[in-house]
Amino acid sequence: MSASALSIPSTALADGSSFPLIGFGTSSMKGVEGARAVESAVRSGYRLIDTAAQYGNEASVGDGVRGSGVDPDDVLITTKIAGGDQGRRAAREGYLGSLRRLGFERAALVLIHWPNPSRGLTLETWRTLIDLKEEGLALHIGVSNFRPEQLQELIDATGVTPEVNQIQLSPALQRPEAVAFHREHGIVTQAWGPLGGREGLGEQFALRKVARKHGVAPSQVSLRWAIDQDIVVIPKSTNPQRQLDNASLEAITLDDEDRALLATLDLGEESAWDSREHEEW
Ligand SMILES: NC(=O)c1ccc[n+]([C@@H]2O[C@H](COP(=O)([O-])OP(=O)(O)OC[C@H]3O[C@@H](n4cnc5c(N)ncnc54)[C@H](OP(=O)(O)O)[C@@H]3O)[C@@H](O)[C@H]2O)c1
Repeated sequence: MSASALSIPSTALADGSSFPLIGFGTSSMKGVEGARAVESAVRSGYRLIDTAAQYGNEASVGDGVRGSGVDPDDVLITTKIAGGDQGRRAAREGYLGSLRRLGFERAALVLIHWPNPSRGLTLETWRTLIDLKEEGLALHIGVSNFRPEQLQELIDATGVTPEVNQIQLSPALQRPEAVAFHREHGIVTQAWGPLGGREGLGEQFALRKVARKHGVAPSQVSLRWAIDQDIVVIPKSTNPQRQLDNASLEAITLDDEDRALLATLDLGEESAWDSREHEEW
């Protein structure tokens, strides 16, 4: 497939801005190799790249985007406020550090990486993100790994709803309550770990059966299943062919029988990382 053949579908954020349904994950892609992987993804047609201060790869992501030859203004970068940078002033300083490492004047989307409830700084961090958006330093703001009640707290305290919540989600962790809450509040759901590798999803018979029926890879079935629900996926791959495969889903049409089989793969909410207890800072 030639690079120009990738046509990535989009969804809309609450303000109506178009947002790609398929982006590119970059955790653990570092240095020159990381930059090359990002460069190849952008050349292939990806226009949404997910990074985080915590990944230690923002400089590689910036280099990769610049190296692709695509206008950086056409590439949406997501970065995240690290746990150690939570707080009113620290979040701003953390974000400015991200911009410096990326080498860009603003990011398209900035997220609070984890709520980290024991620190009690989530709300102050959210207030800073609201300021950053008002100042035009971030185009869009959101969170990651927030449970519905944690989202509700932000909304109640500030009246500002996160535009995106990036959560662990795949056919192995379908998170129906979270997805329904997001939908009800106009929050776009973004899936991390969309291939379910941590849950052994790729080996599951039901997934393989659906993939065989359509003559595609199991990973493509998982991604198609998510984008059919208007859930943004950010699969990561260092392999240029798999990068293309992961964003070439338009020919796959899942039917009710497929969806019924995939529904059997859900391990349940209790198998997802629980952000009331799991903290990263
Ligand atoms: N917000 C958060 O807390 C959080 C947490 C985790 C991740 N994330 C973000 O979400 C992104 C994606 O999640 P993830 O990296 O954990 O998992 P993932 O994208 O679900 O899976 C990545 C793994 O799958 C392999 N893979 C990719 N495409 C494949 C294909 N077509 N066939 C077979 N194997 C394939 C990759 O290996 P190859 O490279 O060899 O292809 C890699 O080992 C991350 O990169 C990061 O940006 C966010």
